[in-house]
Amino acid sequence: MIQHSHRDLTLYRGIKLYAGTGSPDLAQKIAEYVKVPLCGRDIIQFPNENLFVKLHSSARGQDVYVIQNTSSPVHRNLMELLILIQTLKLDSAARITAVIPYMAYCRSDKKDQPRVPITARLVADMLEVAGADRYMILDPHAGQVQGFFSIPGDVLTGFHLISEHLRGLAKYMVDPVVVTVDLGFAKKGRNIAADLNVPIAFIEKRRSSNDAKAQALSVIGEVANRDVILVDDEIDTGGSICQAVNLLKENGARDVYVICVHPIFSADAAARLAALPVKQFITTDTVPLPPEKASLLNGRLTVLSIAPLVGEVILRAHEGRSVGEMFNE
Ligand code: R5P
Repeated sequence: MIQHSHRDLTLYRGIKLYAGTGSPDLAQKIAEYVKVPLCGRDIIQFPNENLFVKLHSSARGQDVYVIQNTSSPVHRNLMELLILIQTLKLDSAARITAVIPYMAYCRSDKKDQPRVPITARLVADMLEVAGADRYMILDPHAGQVQGFFSIPGDVLTGFHLISEHLRGLAKYMVDPVVVTVDLGFAKKGRNIAADLNVPIAFIEKRRSSNDAKAQALSVIGEVANRDVILVDDEIDTGGSICQAVNLLKENGARDVYVICVHPIFSADAAARLAALPVKQFITTDTVPLPPEKASLLNGRLTVLSIAPLVGEVILRAHEGRSVGEMFNE
């Protein structure tokens, strides 16, 4: 009979970090913060577009974090994530956390008209079926997305980071006011305004169809002769922000600073934003911005990295320490 000289009773062995191809720079920065290198893996796309994953080393018994962004190309990135998770599960990883800086389909979070899906729920289900034990996401479009998962998770925000940066700028602003791009963002906007100790105003926005076009209708609150901090969770086509900036200017706003966590910047959004009378765009690296898009906003774009935040949460999750403590919660 084999005699065991040593029995390690810790629940999980080391941290293992894997990344899909969705945001290699961010994954590398997270790995540097955690001080654990990204594990080797092959991700191959066959001519028939099917994907194949192979891990370079065993994940048995490890506490594994799979970092994968699900912005463009959305479906390829999502499948990579699901297949990576299943591969790790089949390789007997002890615990698998899906780390998704930007979760696709979060805007499909309710049946707000007949005969439509709730695709964010479907994505949550697919992650669980693939084998995720935990998840980590940043600023989902709506809080109820948390309820779509039956596994535990960390729902983080990039707005602390942005507010910290704004605190430095706010002292040079004239009577700053936080303005939310729509009423759905009112609660988060209020938190940001409270954080910065400035008043808040709102834009009333309407989407008349499903084609992603928005219409900014009116401003609720005081913006005349004030510098404006215009906030949204994500900028996709840039339509909401363009309409909002124009409306604010018509209402007498001074300088406008645009902030968002997820810079999706689909299609020609960067060019549309570049044409706006905006003093600065402040965002994060939850979504990688191709250099040709970033350069259109040259000199007016600040990208703050969420890597230290995500890295710290990974360390705390691994060690079983509070994450709320990081935000005095
Ligand atoms: C939607 O309600 C979100 O808060 C954003 O306003 C939206 O995703 C922005 O989309 P777009 O840039 O295409 O107007």
